Amino acid sequence: MENRRFDLTGKTALITGAGRGIGLAIARALAEHGADLVLVARHAEQLDAASRQIEAATGRTARLLPFDLARIDEVNGLFDDAVEAAGRIDVLVNCAGTTVRTPSDEVSLADFKRVMDVNLTAALALSQSFCRHCRDGGKPGRIINIGSLACHAARPTIVPYTCSKMGLLGLTRTLAVEWAPHHINVNAIGPGYIATELTAPLRKDPEFDRWVLAKTPLGRWGTPQDLVGVAVLLASKAGEFITGQIFYVDGGWTALI
Ligand SMILES: NC(=O)c1ccc[n+]([C@@H]2O[C@H](COP(=O)([O-])OP(=O)(O)OC[C@H]3O[C@@H](n4cnc5c(N)ncnc54)[C@H](OP(=O)(O)O)[C@@H]3O)[C@@H](O)[C@H]2O)c1
Repeated sequence: MENRRFDLTGKTALITGAGRGIGLAIARALAEHGADLVLVARHAEQLDAASRQIEAATGRTARLLPFDLARIDEVNGLFDDAVEAAGRIDVLVNCAGTTVRTPSDEVSLADFKRVMDVNLTAALALSQSFCRHCRDGGKPGRIINIGSLACHAARPTIVPYTCSKMGLLGLTRTLAVEWAPHHINVNAIGPGYIATELTAPLRKDPEFDRWVLAKTPLGRWGTPQDLVGVAVLLASKAGEFITGQIFYVDGGWTALI
């Protein structure tokens, strides 16, 4: 009976960046706990494969909406399409993310804006639509923002990414305190270094790989699966009294001096 505290039956989750990596793992875990899904990313083929895989494994419905979140002025329309397709959204997972690796004195303002738009501004725009949807329907909601160790500290050559992720933590805390009266809980997950396509170039660099292993007390790269437990907690009844927090799932990285 206690397991029902993690049950998501009857809920629908919209997950951005759900075509692969962390977003796909979280989407699948939410479906395994009973949620229907709306999957968002740019590449329709990847979304289609994700949807088929999840539906076959869980029996839940996983609709797909291919969309480029850099088209920031159309994000509200994306949310409306999701509601029209699924009927309701109860959980919003802002997971889509991108980066550029360039020294800060050289990074172009266009690259800076694109990363900020995808990682931060789109999360705000989707959250605004989600808030209106929950408020108008008189029902609670959960927002889960996928942050980073970059919510906590900086490293060279990724200034757009770091600004976007530190901003995402500010967004998480602001919306949590502002929307608590609407029963919308807003939290973030801060993954450590996780083996995905995003970090593939870093894992191929022996020096970087050694640095990650030395800085991670648990002594390995994380996997997308390492993040799903916290995501289910934050989406479910069990997470009802949790808001405004960031949960670092980082193998102990942020605990080490
Ligand atoms: N991997 C790590 O070590 C790590 C650590 C900390 C935080 N994170 C965060 O975790 C999140 C997921 O990262 P990941 O490692 O799983 O990366 P990934 O494997 O590269 O997946 C990124 C996802 O975001 C989607 N996406 C990228 N740009 C998009 C856009 N403009 N519009 C819509 N969707 C877009 C991608 O799909 P399309 O390419 O099809 O659009 C893909 O589904 C990101 O926010 C990242 O910052 C990752």
